[in-house]
Formats: sequence, structure tokens, C-alpha cells
Amino acid sequence: MELINNLNWRYAVKQFDPSKKVSNEDIELIKEAIRLSPSSFGLQPYKVFIIENEALKEKLKPAAWGQAQITDASHLFVFCSYQDLKEIHVDELFELKSKAYNKDISELESYVSFIKGSVAKKLPEIRRVWNSRQAYIGLSNLVNACAELKIDACPMEGFDPNAVGELLDLDSKGLDAVVLAAVGYRSSEDKNQHFPKVRKSKETLFESI
Ligand SMILES: Cc1cc2nc3c(=O)[nH]c(=O)nc-3n(C[C@H](O)[C@H](O)[C@H](O)COP(=O)(O)O)c2cc1C
Repeated sequence: MELINNLNWRYAVKQFDPSKKVSNEDIELIKEAIRLSPSSFGLQPYKVFIIENEALKEKLKPAAWGQAQITDASHLFVFCSYQDLKEIHVDELFELKSKAYNKDISELESYVSFIKGSVAKKLPEIRRVWNSRQAYIGLSNLVNACAELKIDACPMEGFDPNAVGELLDLDSKGLDAVVLAAVGYRSSEDKNQHFPKVRKSKETLFESI
């Protein structure tokens, strides 16, 4: 299966080749893979900033433990989730749904109420975590799309969300920085590309019950 070959090919790149840039066409494909990611109720409660600007990447690097991937990679994807989920976000989804299904919003009203009720039942801090989880599904599709395109990526949680939030003015946008993905091409010098995959065995990870 091609996906398994791709997953064996990829690894979390530590050293990118700063001279190699990902084409706009490929960036559009990666964006589409993220856009098509599933999310709970389809709410997609996150936004992704894509940073190519070298000066901004330099500013972000200290906030990401000085990791070289931030500046060496071609593009930096910053996955940011909504700090809260409000009725307006559910309404926005249903505007899209009513257009896609060519149905009047009133026909979808009972589903709208069900989702609004289910969202309201959660404590605000639970909603915040719930939103961030959805962003990880987008990250996963980024990783898989990159592997298929033979583009390298490094998912990154090694950063200070508050410092990144300040640099990107996320609070005023009601967003939390959740996870980063450096995207580009591996350097031939990166030793990590020769390391074997380390994963739990299927017996440990799965259990048929
Ligand atoms: C959510 C997440 C956060 C990660 N954060 C970092 C990071 O900050 N820096 C880094 O070099 N690698 C990071 N990694 C890469 C992991 O260390 C790597 O995926 C794991 O060791 C498995 O190795 P492989 O991806 O090379 O197969 C992260 C991976 C994930 C999924």
C-alpha cells in the first residue's frame, strides 16, 4: 500500500535544506488536505497560519526552543484553535451546509439546536481542549499529504504557546497556538533520516476484543 511506503519514507526532519523551497502548487495541495480533514460535527474550529517570511520565522525561533527547523524549513504552518466555540460558529457551519445541500436553514434547525446544545453543555475549558484536538487531525493530514508529495515535515510541539501567541497577536483573534509543522526538504546532512523507525509492536498497540 502506497500510504505505508510513504509513512516509512517520512520522518520528523531535524535539519532542512534552507535552499530548497516548496512550490506554491504543492502548498495549495497541502492546504487542501488540511481543509478536507474531518472534525467533530464538521466545525473545523481552527485556523492555520502559513509563514514563509524569513524575518518572522527568525522572531519565532526563540519561542520554539531555538529549533533550527523553524528558520531552515521552507514554510512554517502554525495550527491555532479557537479559544472558545460559540453559537455563531455553529451558525457559520450551517450557512455552508444549507448552501451545499441547497436547503433552507430552517430545514436544518433541529440539527443546529442539537449541536448548539451539545457545545453549550461542555465547560469552556473542555471546549478549548476539544477545539485543539481538531487541529491535530489537520496536522495529521498535512504529514500524510507531505509524505505523498515527497515533501518533508516536522510536527512541533516544542514551543511556548504564549510567546508564539504574542508574536502572531493570537489573543485578539481568539486563537491558541496548538502545534506547528515545519515543511520543506531534508538536508542530506540530517542524520535522523538514516535512523530506523521506532514504533510499538502491533501486539502492544492493538487488542482485538
Ligand atoms: C505533536 C508532535 C509534536 C512534536 N514536536 C516535535 C518538536 O518540537 N521537535 C522535533 O524535533 N520533533 C517533534 N516531533 C517529532 C517526534 O519526535 C517524532 O514524530 C517521533 O519521534 C517519531 O519519529 P518519526 O516521526 O521520525 O517517525 C513531534 C511530533 C508530534 C506528532
